[in-house]
Amino acid sequence: MGNENSASFALLSLVLLSGILLPPTIQLSFSQPALGSGCKEVEREALLQFKQNLTDPSGRLSSWVGEDCCSWRGVGCNNRTGSIIMLNLNNPFRDSFDSYEDDAVHELRGKISPSLLQLKDLEYLDLSLNNFKGAQLPEFIGSLKELRYLNLSGSFFSGTIPQSLGNLSNLLYLDLNNFLDQSNQIGLGWLSGLSSLKYLNLGGVDLSNTSAYWLEIFSKLHSIVELHLSNCNIPSLPLNPSLNFTSLQVLDLSNNGFNSTLPHWLFNITNLLSLNLSSNDLQGDIPDGFSSLNSLQLLDLSGNSFLEGQLSRNLGTLCNLQTLKLSLNQFSGEVSDFIDGLSECINSSSLARLELGYNQLTGNLPISLGYLKNLRYLELWYNSFLGSIPPSLGNLTFLEELYLTSNQMNGKFPESFGQLSAIRVLELSDNQWEGFITDAHLRNLTSLEELSLIKTSNSSLSFNISFDWIPPFNLRYLVIRYYQLGPKFLTWLRNQTELTTLVLNSASISDTLPSWFLQLNLTLDELDVGGNHLSGRIPNTLVFRFPGSVDLSSNRFEGPIPLWSSNLTKLFLVLSNNHLSGEIPPSLKNCSLMDSLDLGENQLSGNIPAWIGESMPSLSILRLRSNHFNGTIPSELCKLSALHILDLNNLSGEMPVELTSLLYLGTLNLSGNQLVGKIPTQIGKLEWLESLDLSRNKLSGSIPPSMVSIRFLSFLNLSFNNLSGEIPTANQFQTLINPSIYEGNLALCGVPLPKRCSEIDGTPQIPGANEDKEDENGHDKLWLFVSVGLGFIMGFWGVCGTLIIKKSWRYAYFQFFDKIKDQLLTFLALSVVRLKRKMSEKNGAGET
Ligand SMILES: *[C@@H]1O[C@H](CO)[C@@H](O)[C@H](O)[C@H]1NC(C)=O
Ligand SMILES: *[C@@H]1O[C@H](CO)[C@@H](O)[C@H](O)[C@H]1NC(C)=O
Ligand SMILES: *[C@@H]1O[C@H](CO)[C@@H](O)[C@H](O)[C@H]1NC(C)=O
Ligand SMILES: *[C@@H]1O[C@H](CO)[C@@H](O)[C@H](O)[C@H]1NC(C)=O
Ligand SMILES: *[C@@H]1O[C@H](CO)[C@@H](O)[C@H](O)[C@H]1NC(C)=O
Ligand SMILES: *[C@@H]1O[C@H](CO)[C@@H](O)[C@H](O)[C@H]1NC(C)=O
Ligand SMILES: *[C@@H]1O[C@H](CO)[C@@H](O)[C@H](O)[C@H]1NC(C)=O
Ligand SMILES: *[C@@H]1O[C@H](CO)[C@@H](O)[C@H](O)[C@H]1NC(C)=O
Ligand SMILES: *[C@@H]1O[C@H](CO)[C@@H](O)[C@H](O)[C@H]1NC(C)=O
Ligand SMILES: *[C@@H]1O[C@H](CO)[C@@H](O)[C@H](O)[C@H]1NC(C)=O
Ligand SMILES: *[C@@H]1O[C@H](CO)[C@@H](O)[C@H](O)[C@H]1NC(C)=O
Ligand SMILES: *[C@@H]1O[C@H](CO)[C@@H](O)[C@H](O)[C@H]1NC(C)=O
Repeated sequence: MGNENSASFALLSLVLLSGILLPPTIQLSFSQPALGSGCKEVEREALLQFKQNLTDPSGRLSSWVGEDCCSWRGVGCNNRTGSIIMLNLNNPFRDSFDSYEDDAVHELRGKISPSLLQLKDLEYLDLSLNNFKGAQLPEFIGSLKELRYLNLSGSFFSGTIPQSLGNLSNLLYLDLNNFLDQSNQIGLGWLSGLSSLKYLNLGGVDLSNTSAYWLEIFSKLHSIVELHLSNCNIPSLPLNPSLNFTSLQVLDLSNNGFNSTLPHWLFNITNLLSLNLSSNDLQGDIPDGFSSLNSLQLLDLSGNSFLEGQLSRNLGTLCNLQTLKLSLNQFSGEVSDFIDGLSECINSSSLARLELGYNQLTGNLPISLGYLKNLRYLELWYNSFLGSIPPSLGNLTFLEELYLTSNQMNGKFPESFGQLSAIRVLELSDNQWEGFITDAHLRNLTSLEELSLIKTSNSSLSFNISFDWIPPFNLRYLVIRYYQLGPKFLTWLRNQTELTTLVLNSASISDTLPSWFLQLNLTLDELDVGGNHLSGRIPNTLVFRFPGSVDLSSNRFEGPIPLWSSNLTKLFLVLSNNHLSGEIPPSLKNCSLMDSLDLGENQLSGNIPAWIGESMPSLSILRLRSNHFNGTIPSELCKLSALHILDLNNLSGEMPVELTSLLYLGTLNLSGNQLVGKIPTQIGKLEWLESLDLSRNKLSGSIPPSMVSIRFLSFLNLSFNNLSGEIPTANQFQTLINPSIYEGNLALCGVPLPKRCSEIDGTPQIPGANEDKEDENGHDKLWLFVSVGLGFIMGFWGVCGTLIIKKSWRYAYFQFFDKIKDQLLTFLALSVVRLKRKMSEKNGAGET
């Protein structure tokens, strides 16, 4: 039993091994693990000692008992001699290099026991994705002379790489990816001993201080087939190295921050199959020289942000190229020449994946696109392509994913679109499409899973799909915004059983929510049917499971908040702008993970329940404006430490001082209430506040001086209260100079109002201003962290958070936001590793 285990482990790892290599692959041959021949006592003892020094919370080594150690899990023996040749303890439960508490239980931890040295015939050692918590990798690993395969990737070893590794002259594979090298001065001399090495991964190892001849050093590894030096902080690409890479097939230099042009020696590595230079800052054109790399199968230059100029036509003559990634650069000019080049291959081009997104390419897509018969993935979004989809697109019968979002394409969808029978993903938003989408376009798209179509103002496309149409596909993701689909609710959704995202926003649907709809057996991440004319009561029964968000806003729903809302675990319940009535049901208390509650613009009544502050601790948006609520603001609301937007109405009494404990509040809107008393003096503690509206209340007293420390404040309205005294002038107040902000407060004086304050008062004291200075010096480093860590969140709230308040803005900016979000996510994915490194550098520098 255990034996089968170890055999399949060995097999699995060999399969994985060949999977990562492009053909022709490097093959490792191992003897079959032994069957019942028993193991050597001394080696069994050694394994037990090895086990003793490890902690193994999930019992991955629980089979390590009994006599026959060859049958223990992860152990493989030579079937003739019975000696242990393989120890495969990689952690299959973690699939990334980050460690999360969730999967920590499967990690082996502790210390590597020197008893390992007893395994004199050990050829294969894999400890990857465990957690050695920053321990120094012991020198003695270099004495395991028979090792051919050593994989310590993502195991959180740190310190220096022991020079003794250079003694492993039989080593074929060395994977130290994400080794946390902290010495910052690792020499590479030890590499010269690894004369057999075929695969080397030093990803993430800090090579910033290695010699300018780093590339020559690697080139002395005469057998090297794959070289991975991603995220190594290598300062620059050499210009004229003398290289002798005779067998190199895979070269990964991504994410290093190179900012030169593409050097010409690249084109002398003639056997190259895969070249990855993504996420650098490379500059200039794509040189024609690439055409000399005529074996090249993968070329990844994406995310360089400076690569610019025209796409070389000669790139198109790389007939063996299978993957070409050029997204997130600054290529401009027409694309047709380049694609024509691809069509000149004698047999058809091998290209299966083409990524040109996020450039400034323009021109029509040429007819020759139809010759790229092997294309499976075509990413052209966020460019300036013009014209219509060429009918020859229909010839791409293997095409699975097509991304055209955010271009300036127009024209009708050609009939031949309907021939894309392999298509799974269609992202077509934000173009100027014309004509109709009919049943015929969709009839043969049997594999379609994702469709996204968001209208811009100058698209005249409409849907013309018959009422009783039965779709051939089963969608997972359907997003349609601003295109008319109504007036009837879509009956064809009835047998879409796999949906996880359903957005039919502003689709002119004037109907009731059909009862079958809420009975569909779906698990939805997002349901958004906002901005239609849906009417009637919201049905009380629901079969849907909602791990995500529900937006039924801006319709004509009546009656009480539906009972099922108390079953929502965690989301964005938006029911605003309907005709809902009654009180907020106490059952909503169950929604303890809710992060957003928007019930604004309805006819709800009663008090604002105090339990909201206690039962929904993660709430970040609370919006109850324009209802018939009465009473005071319950101070329990101030326990909502994550609250970012607070928007209430029809309330009396004083502003609770506790409001100032809502430290992360970004928007506070209490306008048009009956509030009396002073603005709390501590309001300056709300330093994330971007928007503050206290207009049309009965507030008195002065503008608290602490307000000048709210440095993001970009929207302020204090008009029509009884405020008095001088308007502050420091910091952000220098920009808040529209007199209407302060109008209707007869006793306010100072800039920007025409009324001057009396000279004797002098300048008011501004305690916040000095603190501010200190902040800037002392917390510089912290600020850097915050800006990266919160950058995305701030960006999100800065655009979206505020927009939720004003519905009109929200719709106008929605597409903009979608686009920004996409860009941010792509950008983040590409740069997060680099950022991390830069952050830790900054941090380290700050500490010394
Ligand atoms: C090393 O282990 C990691 C994680 O298990 C795996 O992804 C990687 O492919 C392995 N490296 C080699 C060369 O097999
Ligand atoms: C032992 O391993 C060799 C080499 O892999 C294999 O050819 C042979 O069939 C194996 N013998 C047994 C008894 O498993
Ligand atoms: C490792 O195990 C040995 C016994 O095998 C024990 O003497 C030693 O204290 C252990 N060390 C650690 C760090 O657990
Ligand atoms: C290049 O490497 C090969 C072996 O891979 C060797 O035969 C040849 O002499 C080397 N050439 C130079 C100029 O070092
Ligand atoms: C490249 O980066 C180096 C080091 O950061 C900098 O000194 C140099 O000015 C940069 N060159 C260009 C062309 O951006
Ligand atoms: C490329 O190789 C050729 C001949 O093999 C040589 O003359 C030339 O200098 C090399 N170019 C670079 C940039 O190494
Ligand atoms: C597309 O297919 C049609 C019919 O099979 C053929 O006539 C046409 O030449 C093809 N066009 C391209 C660009 O491949
Ligand atoms: C759909 O497939 C059928 C049968 O294969 C074919 O006759 C028809 O032309 C296709 N429709 C379109 C629009 O390609
Ligand atoms: C939808 O229903 C029709 C008729 O009942 C059926 O032919 C079709 O296969 C169904 N589609 C899916 C995706 O289940
Ligand atoms: C609903 O779907 C789940 C799987 O997604 C299935 O297990 C369950 O049986 C279905 N329930 C009904 C009533 O069809
Ligand atoms: C809430 O969920 C439970 C379990 O899924 C279900 O039995 C109950 O009917 C649901 N309540 C409402 C009001 O939908
Ligand atoms: C609030 O409104 C309810 C009716 O909805 C009324 O009974 C109650 O007296 C009002 N309370 C206050 C303080 O106005």
